[in-house]
Amino acid sequence: ARTIAVSGTASGIGKALAGMLRDAGDTVIGIDLRDADVCADLSVPEGRAGAVAQTLEKAGGRLDAVVACAGVSDFTVMPVKVNFFGVVGLLEGLRPALAAAEAPRAAVVGSISGTHPVDDDVVRACLEGDEPAALAAAAKVEESGAGGRLYPSSKSSLAQWMRRVCVTPEWAGAGIPLNAIAPGVVKTPMTTPLFEDEAMFKVMNEAVPMPLNGYADPEVIAEALRWLVSPSNTHMTGQVIYVDGGAEPTLRGPAT
Ligand code: NAI
Repeated sequence: ARTIAVSGTASGIGKALAGMLRDAGDTVIGIDLRDADVCADLSVPEGRAGAVAQTLEKAGGRLDAVVACAGVSDFTVMPVKVNFFGVVGLLEGLRPALAAAEAPRAAVVGSISGTHPVDDDVVRACLEGDEPAALAAAAKVEESGAGGRLYPSSKSSLAQWMRRVCVTPEWAGAGIPLNAIAPGVVKTPMTTPLFEDEAMFKVMNEAVPMPLNGYADPEVIAEALRWLVSPSNTHMTGQVIYVDGGAEPTLRGPAT
């Protein structure tokens, strides 16, 4: 049995994944704001440090996999705090415990939104690892009324960070594949408000066209994450895998 840390286990995709892994006999250390093995706020540095320390203690310093699912989607600076710095802080903090395992694996949850328009200043500051600058830039975007760009900015930054670090000695050199699943629209509490508001529903369907089988259940995304962090994945790293009902090829066209 493997020991796997999963963030966002109180709801949606993280909850589905934790259930699947536990059913298969793995030990899951769930991390979330509440209703988790490790309760911590990943939006702030102190919360991330606490999450890392508690998870390392529960894992005994060795983790077979880490999956970062916790995330938020609103038009404020929160996506930058949680979806980028929260994920990066957790992964970097837990990486030494992964390096101590036989077949370590890591995965994050990106989004088709990472292909939507972003704010370049926010993305640049994220990739520089400068959280105060990223939050200052994000606050300006929010105030200007373009807060809708902050969630895409957080997910685009995460994908770019992942593609940079995955081939370094710390990750590839330590035998740790690091990949992302990028969903389209998934039926979780995160998207419930979009289904309930007629105007939002229309915007969502235009932004994320899903010709193959429509909206996904969280278990579909969890299955894909599960394979990414399984021992079978020895050679895939740095990939953003779109599990989005065809939204990505619809929006970007046939060129790869
Ligand atoms: P959800 O809202 O059902 O679950 C997210 C979980 O993250 C919640 O349990 C929440 O408490 C936790 N979380 C939020 N802020 C946190 C913080 N500061 N510290 C610790 N935990 C925190 O959402 P869902 O749909 O399961 O989303 C999971 C991931 O999938 C997110 O990264 C989201 O951006 C991504 N995603 C979701 C899509 C969807 O359509 N639902 C589409 C594309 C990506």
